[in-house]
Amino acid sequence: MSIQWFPGHMHLTRKAITERVKEIDVVIEMLDARLPGSSANPLLAELTAGRPTLKVVNKQDMADPVRTALWLDHYNAQPRTRAIALDASHTAPARAIIAACHELAPNRGGMVKPMRVLICGIPNVGKSTLINTLMGRRSAKTGDEAGITRNEQRIALADDFYLYDTPGMLWPRIVVPESGYNLAASGAVGRNAYDEQEVALELLSRLKAAYAAQLDARYKLGLLPEAIASLPDEELMEAIARKRGAIASGGAVNWQKAAELVIADFRSNAIGRVTLETPGEFTQWLATGQQADAERLARKKERSIKPAKPRKR
Ligand code: G4P
Repeated sequence: MSIQWFPGHMHLTRKAITERVKEIDVVIEMLDARLPGSSANPLLAELTAGRPTLKVVNKQDMADPVRTALWLDHYNAQPRTRAIALDASHTAPARAIIAACHELAPNRGGMVKPMRVLICGIPNVGKSTLINTLMGRRSAKTGDEAGITRNEQRIALADDFYLYDTPGMLWPRIVVPESGYNLAASGAVGRNAYDEQEVALELLSRLKAAYAAQLDARYKLGLLPEAIASLPDEELMEAIARKRGAIASGGAVNWQKAAELVIADFRSNAIGRVTLETPGEFTQWLATGQQADAERLARKKERSIKPAKPRKR
């Protein structure tokens, strides 16, 4: 698994969240609707454990609406959790957000007990865009003010509703390999942290399973959806490369160019509205990933307590 990154500012952000969460009524977790499970930061769940949570499934305009509905149902069935789908075309998202927060913390409101909300999300999830829309002409207060750290912004959405913003945060180690690929495909991870060819092949393997007809429409493969779904990933990539002219001199496939093309098409929605994971799939990936991680840790522990073999003389 070749997706590695150095999560900049993670320690500062983590500290800011730990401090702020003590005085928070609701946590808003922004998720990417194309990969809701993978875009949820496992560290955040740890830092905010127990707080009522509003899941904002964002960029719904890019995602498969049927799968978005599945994710909303999945989250709404969880205790102390509400979920809404949003995208940047909503010009007045504040009303839905304020209403959901009041449902989650009904005892808060009014000048004496204002609603205090922390908003979090991985980089590129659309948090700045949403905050700008929410702010309208209001100004955000940042640092150098009693009770606000340099690392956070406070926005008053109403006289009795404060939103605290934190920098986008990724986590240092991915336990679910599928999540690493989906995050890389979405653009949440810096380009140097992954291998485009590997990410594009994984992306095609998800897309062919659920969106073969959309792949055919985009790349004019001239194949039935069942035929596309049963093609090995490399063959599918090769067929796309040939259709789109990603061919090196001598007629060989230019794998790098083909990979970049597929990733760019996914990011720009040229393949249409797609979602890379369902709640059921993600739950399974998570269980497998956590088990593999536990085994890895157990092996590491065993190695560290094994006495060194005596050297032969
Ligand atoms: P961040 O603060 O969470 O890092 O994300 P940001 O708001 O900067 O948004 C990241 C990218 O996602 C931006 O595109 C932004 O326009 C786009 N975006 C945000 N919300 C939505 C949405 O609901 N739907 C769609 N389709 N896109 C959204 P960009 O190409 O990086 O920048 P630009 O085109 O805005 O200049």
